[in-house]
Amino acid sequence: MATVPCVIAEQPRTVEFGVTLAPHHQNHGIASEVLTATLDWLFGEHEMHRVYAQVDDRNKAAHRLLERLGLRLEARLIEADWFEGEWVTLRIYAVLKKEWLELRKLP
Ligand SMILES: CC(C)(COP(=O)(O)OP(=O)(O)OC[C@H]1O[C@@H](n2cnc3c(N)ncnc32)[C@H](O)[C@@H]1OP(=O)(O)O)[C@@H](O)C(=O)NCCC(=O)NCCS
Repeated sequence: MATVPCVIAEQPRTVEFGVTLAPHHQNHGIASEVLTATLDWLFGEHEMHRVYAQVDDRNKAAHRLLERLGLRLEARLIEADWFEGEWVTLRIYAVLKKEWLELRKLP
């Protein structure tokens, strides 16, 4: 139903993630719930320092999702990704462990 691929990045305790929901499960809040649990797990169980996602600049559903969860828009990389025959502008969204704990009101 939902996949959340997580890749260990070059920097220590840093993870890049993505999220995909099957189309008929979209717009029900499932991605928000799954990502919240995933970020709790990455920061809580795995002591990650920074978690980020790279998202197509045109992907408004993904922007809303990440902003709703409290991730920060850190950059727009203009035509940085060659994908399916065209240059795509990417947005970087990120959150630090200390920010996530504050957002979630966790100790
Ligand atoms: C990005 C993606 C996961 C977002 O999925 P989504 O269904 O919009 O996100 P959620 O499951 O959190 O659902 C939130 C929406 O459901 C609505 N909703 C309905 N019932 C809800 C409920 N009980 N609780 C919360 N939200 C609810 C919300 O209002 C929200 O709509 P909005 O974005 O218009 O405000 C999805 O579009 C997708 O899989 N896209 C293809 C893959 C992709 O582009 N991934 C991004 C790469 S990182």
